This record gives sequence, C-alpha cells and structure tokens, in this order.
Amino acid sequence: MGLIPQSVIEDVLARTDILETVRQYVALKRSGSNHKGLCPFHDENTPSFFVHPGMGIYKCFGCGEGGNVYQFLMAMEGWSFPETVRHLAERCGVEIPEQDSEQAEAQRKRRKGKKLYLDIMDKARQFYSDTLWSKAGRAAQMYLAERGIDEETSRAFGLGYAPDGWEHLLDHLKSEGIRPELVARAGLAMTNDRGGHYDRFRHRVVFPVVDVWGHTLAFGGRTLGSDDDGAKYINSPETRFYTKGKQLYGLDVAKRTIQKQEFALVVEGNFDVIALHGAGLDMAVAPMGTALTEQQARLMGRFARRVVVAFDGDEAGEEATLRCLSALDAAGLEARVIRFAPGDDPDTFVRREGIDALRAKIDEAVPMVAWALQRVLGPVEGASIEARIAVLEDVGQIFDQIGDDAVKKHYAEEVARRLSIDPGRVEKYIRRSTAGRRDVEKQLKKVHQGPQWSSAEYGVLVVLLEHPEWLDDFFREELDKLLTSQDLAMLLNLARDHYGEHGRIDGSLFLEAVEQAHLRETVSRALAEPERGGLYPPEQSLRWYRDCVWTLKRRWAQRMADFLQQELINVDFSNDRQRFETLTHQLDEVRQFQKALDLEGLQGDRIEGRAG
Ligand code: UTP
Ligand code: MN
Repeated sequence: MGLIPQSVIEDVLARTDILETVRQYVALKRSGSNHKGLCPFHDENTPSFFVHPGMGIYKCFGCGEGGNVYQFLMAMEGWSFPETVRHLAERCGVEIPEQDSEQAEAQRKRRKGKKLYLDIMDKARQFYSDTLWSKAGRAAQMYLAERGIDEETSRAFGLGYAPDGWEHLLDHLKSEGIRPELVARAGLAMTNDRGGHYDRFRHRVVFPVVDVWGHTLAFGGRTLGSDDDGAKYINSPETRFYTKGKQLYGLDVAKRTIQKQEFALVVEGNFDVIALHGAGLDMAVAPMGTALTEQQARLMGRFARRVVVAFDGDEAGEEATLRCLSALDAAGLEARVIRFAPGDDPDTFVRREGIDALRAKIDEAVPMVAWALQRVLGPVEGASIEARIAVLEDVGQIFDQIGDDAVKKHYAEEVARRLSIDPGRVEKYIRRSTAGRRDVEKQLKKVHQGPQWSSAEYGVLVVLLEHPEWLDDFFREELDKLLTSQDLAMLLNLARDHYGEHGRIDGSLFLEAVEQAHLRETVSRALAEPERGGLYPPEQSLRWYRDCVWTLKRRWAQRMADFLQQELINVDFSNDRQRFETLTHQLDEVRQFQKALDLEGLQGDRIEGRAG
C-alpha cells in the first residue's frame, strides 16, 4: 500500500460530514451550534460528548477523547490511518492515485476481485440467514433454542442454517447470477472429480466470520447434534481474501465493549462467544480452533491493552492457554488467565453459575506468566534438589515466550526464591532464551551475521579462555549481545559451562566439546595465544579485555545507528507515525550511548598515559 498524498487526505476531510459519520455510532441532539450525545468512548449517563460540524471536530469533556473524523473512526473502529482515509475516500468518491500504472492495475484488479468476493459472501450470508428463519430451518432454530441462544443474539451474529442437500446454495447463487466456479473459488462449494460442484456446508448452523470493517469473509459450520457423523465444525478454507490467523471470531460485535471495558476476553469456541453475549458479556472473541496468532493478538490490541484468556477447563484448554503467551507478549498485551474445572467451558459455566460468577472470576484473573510458572513450580516445591533443578527446563521454555528481559529477570528471582536455587542458575535460562527478542534486535542479527570474526571478537575469546572467571560477568552484563558471530556466542557459552563444571578450562577436554571442525581450529589457536604472547603482553590481559569490549560496544552502536537510520528512511511517516517516533527515540539513545563510549575511550587513554 503506497503513500496517500496529502492533497487527498485534505480533500477527503473537506468532503466528509463529521456529523453524518458520528451519527452512525452516537445518537446526537442539537445544542446551539454543537451536537451533543453520550460518549462512545466511556460509560456515562449525562452527555458530555460534543460534535462541532463547522470545525469538523468532536470532543468529550468527560474522558477527554477528541479529534477530527479520521481520529474518530480510528478510535472507534480500530482502523489504521490509511485504512480510514481509504474508507472515507470511497464513500465521498475521491480517487486515490497509485504510483505507477502497473501497480494501479494490480490494485484495481484486486479491489474488483474483493468486491465480487464480498458480494458472494453477503449473498450467502443472507441465504443462510433466511433459511434459518424459514420453515426449512426449524431444526436449527430448535437446536439454538435448546442451547439457550435467543433470536436477538442469533441475529446479532448473523447466524444461519445451511440446508441439507447438495446444491441449495449453488442454485440460489446461480439465480442471482453467480457461477458455480466463483462459488467454489470463494470456498463455499467443492468440486467433484467430474468437475461438478456441490455445497460445502450442508445441514449445519453457520457462523459468519466478520472482519473489523463488518465484511463477512468466511463461514464456520457446526453440526446440529453430537450424533451426526463428520467433524463437529467445518470451516471455509483460506482464500485470497481470507486468512484464518488474521481474524477473530466475534470481534466485530465485541469491539465496542472491548474498548469501553478496556479488555478482551478470549475463549475457545464460537459457541462460547455467542453464549456469553447472550448472557450479557459482550467482549468475548475466539481464535477459531487454531493457536492464537500474533496478528490476532495485535488485532485485539487495537481496542484494548489487556486480554483475559478463558479457555476450556480440560487439559487441551490448558495447553492452548500456554500457547497464547508468546503471541500476546509479542503484541505487548497484558495477559491474564482464568481456568475452569475439567468439563466446563465459559458457556457451561455461565449457564450453571450465572454471569456474575464469571465476572468475579475475571476480576480475579491471574497474570499469565505467573500462572504458567505456578503450573510447573507447584508440583516440585519442597521436592528434592534434583527435581527442582529438572523443572528449570520448563521454566526456561516459559521464559522463551517473553520478550522483555526485565520481566524475565523479575520472574527468575521469584523462581529462584521459590525453589531455593541460586538465582544465577535460574538466570542462565534467561540468557538462553532467544525466541522473544524484539524486532530491531532480530533484524540486526539477520543483517549482521558475517562469517568473519573481528579481531576484537577473537581477542575476547582468547582472553576469556585465559580468564574464564570473567565469563559470568560477561554474560551477566549481556555482552554476548554485542557479538556478530553466533559461533562465538556459542563457544563462550560452552566455555562458561565447562568452567562451571571443571573449575578451569581444560584445553583438550574443552576442544572435545566443540563439535564443528573449523571452530576447533580457532579454539586451539586461541588457547595457545597467551603462551605465544603474540596478542598482548602478560599482566595486560584485563586492559586488553576492556579494549576489546569497548570496541565491540562501539561497533554495535554504529551498526545499530546505521540500521535505525535506514529504517527511518524506509518508514512511511504519514502511515506509521508511532514507528517513526520509536525509531527516532531509539536512534537518540544509541547516539548518547556512542557519546558516552567516546568519553570513556578518552578517559581510558588518560589512565593509560598516567600508568605508562
Ligand atoms: P469446540 O469444540 O470447543 O467448539 O471448539 P464450541 O464452539 O465450543 O462448540 P460446543 O459448545 O462444543 O458445541 C472450539 C473451536 O474450534 C473450532 C471452532 O471454531 C470451535 O468454535 N473447531 C472445533 C473447528 O474448527 N473444527 C472442529 O472440528 C472443532
Ligand atoms: Mn467449546
């Protein structure tokens, strides 16, 4: 998606009536030149939300929200800026020019394809819904009623019924001028080996999957009972316009409440979403049978920064809860957990215990990391030292899901305390973890992973093999992050373990542990270096070590600065303001770090001068 020219942004703003847009969300009453209503961004009983159409702005004197029509839609719908401009541009008939004609042509084609796709989905949704509320849908109506889902709730989610038979939808769509090939391409029909087509969904309750724009992109279909053969659910396949991991079931209905209540409730089943909604809890969404993806987490993050995961009470639900952690963490969301007794899910729980019981559980939800740790620590507290150490592997796996080292450190201390194990030992599992490193660091690694070591890196290996007692500090200060060579980082880790085990570096034994032949060569040379005295004079190893580390820091800062500068050039300022600001801030920090280093370098020279 290219840049949107400023002229278009202004043109769309000039042509859009903010009053008309806001009215779609808020009931407004006229008061003077203003219009007044109940604020959609916070709960209130007396109106403090104003729209001033002349100035094209809105403002809430209760919660402080305010801005123009773009900001209103972004806050309301969770759309990005370009999404919002495109949406309004379409409505007021402003063309957004594309850069070159080839790109424009591709975009035009895609838009046309998507329009057709959405049209098919809408028609199918209408057909399924009409069928549900007709005589043919009697059995499905009864099924929903039995599960305690009333008509209002069913309609809010656009539930439908796909009738029993092979060509009901196909026939209906044909009568609306849509060829079977297109229905198949949209995922709603299958092709048999003779090239014929038949309906994908037959004799099932269908659940439209709706994106944040309110477009139906796909369907899920559930059998009416448990005795039917076939899978409980079948789902639309992924298509050119539907990616499963990018959508959340129920978000379109739940997003307003998620925003007001400032948290989202993630449940496993589509039915949980609907049942909770029917019971008056409107902020539930479901990931549709797959592990929660980072994209889904970010999608929720548009509406709230807190997420409560409330999966089924069985073992599978517990495992699935654990698998949410990295996605939620990577999206920067605060994750909490509630658990149910085996056999319960939010739906059955609310039916039996009532909605207030669930609200109480939500209020007492436990932070997800604490919950995950308790799960592995609980059983071994007070057990043998061997058992307590063995569980550190599981702890490490939890740490792997967390990106923030400060958070890991916090929990590492807690783990050490609870297991009565040396904190250093637990922290080893922090350093080991690589999964959650944040994007800048990750990319930096990708870009700068040359096979050649610098002399400073070789120097660090030499001196740390001579002084393995410095290795712990090296890792504690996270100096391994300065290395461009993964091999070297690996070797130093190996050396630390070897030293921990043997109390010294036993050259030949250590070499045994090095698996790659080319690294063995380097290591044996490094081991011999102090003897040879070629690198630094004896008694000067500490100074040498400090110089090497200083050089590594200086180079790291330079790489970081280059990388950030490049990113700043590439970032699309008008589309991604936040990233731009983050990068600028990071670049500032790196520059300061560089300055401090240079100062340190000067002082180093002075000290040396005095010593010499
Ligand atoms: P559940 O089996 O918990 O479904 O699967 P549910 O919606 O809670 O239905 P009930 O209450 O048992 O009748 C959780 C989700 O996993 C997906 C569906 O999205 C479902 O809502 N799923 C499940 C599938 O895609 N295929 C299946 O065969 C089963
Ligand atoms: Mn379920």
